[in-house]
Amino acid sequence: MSVATLKPATSFPIPEGMFAETVTQVQHYDDRLFRFRITRPASFRFRSGEFVMIGLPNAEKPVMRAYSIASPAWDEEIEFYSIKVPDGPLTEHLQRIRPGDTVLMKKKPTGTLVLDALVPGKRLYMFATGTGIAPFASLIRDPETYEKFEQVILCHTCRDVAELTYGFDLVRDLRADPLVGEMAGGLIHYATTTREASNRMGRQTDLMESGDLFAALGLPVISAATDRGMICGSMEMLRDTKAALEGFGLEEGSNSKPATFVVERAFVG
Ligand code: A2P
Repeated sequence: MSVATLKPATSFPIPEGMFAETVTQVQHYDDRLFRFRITRPASFRFRSGEFVMIGLPNAEKPVMRAYSIASPAWDEEIEFYSIKVPDGPLTEHLQRIRPGDTVLMKKKPTGTLVLDALVPGKRLYMFATGTGIAPFASLIRDPETYEKFEQVILCHTCRDVAELTYGFDLVRDLRADPLVGEMAGGLIHYATTTREASNRMGRQTDLMESGDLFAALGLPVISAATDRGMICGSMEMLRDTKAALEGFGLEEGSNSKPATFVVERAFVG
């Protein structure tokens, strides 16, 4: 279905338990990735790192998908970062949204990538591939992250350099922000590519296991005594990163049982 055949928002009633919000900004990075912002309902509360189900008002029963909220809890708008899946039931249409369009959002956010699910520590490692950086875009802009951790290491691996743009823009804007820039002094951005030459190459899982990641940053090898982890990426990446952290002696936690690392359980790519 092309954008021309998309029914306007008013054609279908807003399903129960959902907000209908207005798109305020859309930025396309390339033919695979884009970011967009929507208005935030006054009653919508979430913890940085959580996800929410979103969809479009283009059917009686709209297709809804889990999206990590990329904006921090204090932001007056909600930001999402998305891949464009060819023929994807939602992203096929979502990639065509423009400012003024309506996006549906379920009322209850949830998720495991929250600070409450980790026991206290000195350093927080965020492991992301591709659009898995989204929940960390929220967390690195949240002052609570820096209140709880002296150092925050954002690891981002993508196939090529262009896909790292969102992360580089994010960190640059954060450091320049007059309100939150100063608090982010402990933030380290470690970005690697796997399929295009760059000054850091390789999967972060391999670089962690070989020790190159720690050597490059001048940090001690990850340890359960001082370090905490959060993981967001494809199913294979979650599995491999979890195994690597367990190899370093860390244990998976949850909201009900905080421990030394957490894995995004809803992320679908
Ligand atoms: P690679 O190019 O070696 O497959 P994708 O776009 O397929 O989701 O991949 C995003 C990034 O995640 C790519 O750089 C990819 O590397 C990397 N990746 C894929 N699978 C894993 C994994 N199991 N562990 C770590 N990184 C992975």
